[in-house]
Amino acid sequence: MSKIKQKLKSPIVIFLTVILGMILISIPPALTQQPVVLNMLMIAPEARTWKESLVKDFEAKNPGIRINVVEGPNATDLLEDLYTSAFILGDSPYDLINMDVIWTPKFAAAGWLRDLSDRMTKDELGVFSPKDIDGGSYEGKLYRIPMRSDAGMLYYRQDLLAEAGFTPPETFADLVKISKALKEKGKVNWGYVWQGRQYEGLAAMFVEVLEGFGGYWVNPDNLEVGLDKPESLKAIAFLKETVKSGITPAGVTNYQEEESRRIFQNGEAAFLRNWPYVWALANGDDSPIKGKLAIKPMVGTAGKSGGACLGGWGLGIAKSSKHPEEAWKAIQYFTSEAAQRKFILQTGFVPSRESLFTDPQIVAKYPHYPQLLQVVNQAVLRPPIAQYTQASDILQRYLSSALTNRMTPEKAMQAAAAETRRLLRT
Ligand code: GLC
Repeated sequence: MSKIKQKLKSPIVIFLTVILGMILISIPPALTQQPVVLNMLMIAPEARTWKESLVKDFEAKNPGIRINVVEGPNATDLLEDLYTSAFILGDSPYDLINMDVIWTPKFAAAGWLRDLSDRMTKDELGVFSPKDIDGGSYEGKLYRIPMRSDAGMLYYRQDLLAEAGFTPPETFADLVKISKALKEKGKVNWGYVWQGRQYEGLAAMFVEVLEGFGGYWVNPDNLEVGLDKPESLKAIAFLKETVKSGITPAGVTNYQEEESRRIFQNGEAAFLRNWPYVWALANGDDSPIKGKLAIKPMVGTAGKSGGACLGGWGLGIAKSSKHPEEAWKAIQYFTSEAAQRKFILQTGFVPSRESLFTDPQIVAKYPHYPQLLQVVNQAVLRPPIAQYTQASDILQRYLSSALTNRMTPEKAMQAAAAETRRLLRT
């Protein structure tokens, strides 16, 4: 009896197995496989917008790929440390590397990034601001596709300047003069606020003042160091003078971007050095200075226009990533025109695609963007060298000592220049 049963069962079992197999084969792999997860680390305030907007859109279009956005500290130096330790420990968990423009040479030289040179044609690359592409390249190869650009700018209270009969400043001397006058009239508590804490933002701010005085930090072509030259000392003298004359709060040596923005946005200061993201916030409905501010390129000295430091963020792919094709798909989407337009309108950041600076929707919201394109295209790069992190650390330490009166500017810059020269020789 059981033998008969078995004889009957086997063809049924075989039939069912075949049917099941056919069903499984006909199901698209996306439904049977786990989605590929791409990990990416970024500063926490930005992560929220990515998750709620760009990542959602990308995942809806690419059901087989998930992006895990890890929220990191809100400072480029700290974020870089986290990426660096992950790479050094080996087997980095990150696939997509959301990189500050200053990291490219170091990460590329260390062999942590995939070469993306063959991924885009010349025409495809030609739509991005050339400086942003330069900032993503190292020794002739491309490692980072720019997602958003950045350039240091000077914000000023248009209403207060107009009321007091001043035209916007062109030079550092104008900036000091107007600041003092508005402070004396009791219009503001402070004239000028900037970023003076010992961190990367200090180096970015200093590059601009240095450029305005005709100086330089490191010449990337011959690795000459200019920190102990007279122009550099003049730049420090200007910064110290802002504090000494009382137009800048002494606490500035502890400010990052956000501390200085809050003072300006509260209506307490006439001028602010910061990145373009401030525009959208300072013109927000809850801002006391809404509609009262204007923005212009950083001032310089008579006959020498000021400089804007090139900042910005872009995406690379970790050498260790097991999903380079999926990561590339994500980069293509995040740096696309549609994604950037959406992101810029939501955040007030700066696009890396030139066409978006004159895009009707973007200009309607940020009328100064066509002018901003010129600033980005003339912006000054921080030295694009593999040892940038160490060079910046040296500058930050000694500049901070000079600004906080722990060393004389001469001694501080002699030591900074000597240490930088030693670093670049090794
Ligand atoms: C901004 C810039 C970045 C710079 C940083 C300094 O995020 O985009 O390039 O290094 O500020 O704080």
